[in-house]
Amino acid sequence: MKILVLGSGAREHAIVKALIRTGSEAAAITVIPGNAGIEQEVHCAPLNPSDPAAITKFAIEHQIELVIVGPEAPLVAGVSDALRAADIAVFGPSQKAAQLEGSKSFAKEVMAAADVPTGMARQCSTLEEVRAAMDDFGAPFVIKADGLAAGKGVIVTSDPAAALDHAKKFIDGGILVEEFLDGQEVSLFFLSDGVNVVPLTPAQDFKRAFDGDKGPNTGGMGAYSPLPWLPAGFIDEVTEKVARPTITEMARLGAPFVGLLYCGLIVTERGIRVIEFNARFGDPETQVVLRRLITPLAGLLYGAATGNLETTPDPQFMKDVAVTVVLASEGYPDKSAPDRKIHHVAKAAAVEHVEICHAATAVDHASKDHLIATGGRVLSVVAIGSSFEHARRHAYESIGMIELEGSHYRKDIAAKVAQ
Ligand code: AMP
Ligand code: GLY
Repeated sequence: MKILVLGSGAREHAIVKALIRTGSEAAAITVIPGNAGIEQEVHCAPLNPSDPAAITKFAIEHQIELVIVGPEAPLVAGVSDALRAADIAVFGPSQKAAQLEGSKSFAKEVMAAADVPTGMARQCSTLEEVRAAMDDFGAPFVIKADGLAAGKGVIVTSDPAAALDHAKKFIDGGILVEEFLDGQEVSLFFLSDGVNVVPLTPAQDFKRAFDGDKGPNTGGMGAYSPLPWLPAGFIDEVTEKVARPTITEMARLGAPFVGLLYCGLIVTERGIRVIEFNARFGDPETQVVLRRLITPLAGLLYGAATGNLETTPDPQFMKDVAVTVVLASEGYPDKSAPDRKIHHVAKAAAVEHVEICHAATAVDHASKDHLIATGGRVLSVVAIGSSFEHARRHAYESIGMIELEGSHYRKDIAAKVAQ
């Protein structure tokens, strides 16, 4: 099957690796635009992934049979709609359905209509309304930008001045003030064909920049899968109380959701609560979830894209666990660092049970084709093992070999499950 993957992050690299590992031919995969790691494995084309006309033209010309959309930007730009209009199978929701991620207030409306458990929240369009909602809910304050903000739209703080500052930054696009929910976070992904839903395996993301969950929120600094501490029946409960009613409500609204429904959950003492939906694979959770997948990924995503999940075999995952640790540039997430050389990636990738997914990397042709870091999250080191202790040992041995001036990574990914 000829496959086109859109995106340029470690998530897309993980998707490519999982496609190949589960039986797709590398020669039949193209990534737009890809990065320095992805282009070592498959063909990459330097087009804008969020340009519906350019992507559709490319897909037709190259007889692409399945398009997998990685990031949210092409979804919000309507790339899936343009591809579907040209009769090309696409794993990724329409512009309208992607509002589930693009607008937090839309997501709250869908959850209310579908009776999906989530935190109480108030929509605010002025700072006065934000202040009043903060007074009503009390500290810690949870302030969310309504629109897309690359993982940086949410602040959780007990400092009212910091909460209001954050609200001020995003007030033009609307703010949601939410009740604080206390508990473990879980990311659970579902494949959906618009009617049926199929769960993948749960993962936990580490959103804060520094060890001990300190520092600002990031796009995600590491993840592990599975979650041995989850109560029995958890996946079934999320399927029946969250994913299925949400997909049914989206269909009722005339916006069937075909693609990946990312359920961001908190397990509170009062039960499961949704804190966010995304309309795409999570990054870095995908690196650990797909690392453990055994079933052919192309078949699963094609089944969802063509409305045939019911007759597609369910995804199976290996018993081995997976851990990923993200290497970030100096100053991430607050400031961007200059492009800098990265050393010893090949040696790090040769560590047993390790693979490295590239994110913001490029090849510097002016400097003997040296690998350089070009953005905040640079690489995801992914390791598997028969226990979290083993997987962590491999991951940290590998990431410890990589040299990038000023870079940082968390040392406590999956530490609490590695006994
Ligand atoms: P989001 O972008 O909505 O996933 O939020 C980013 C992070 O903020 C989440 O991963 C949580 O750690 C935290 N967060 C979001 N909503 C809440 C909430 N209602 N209560 C506590 N923490 C939250
Ligand atoms: N890891 C969080 C996200 O992908 O949104």
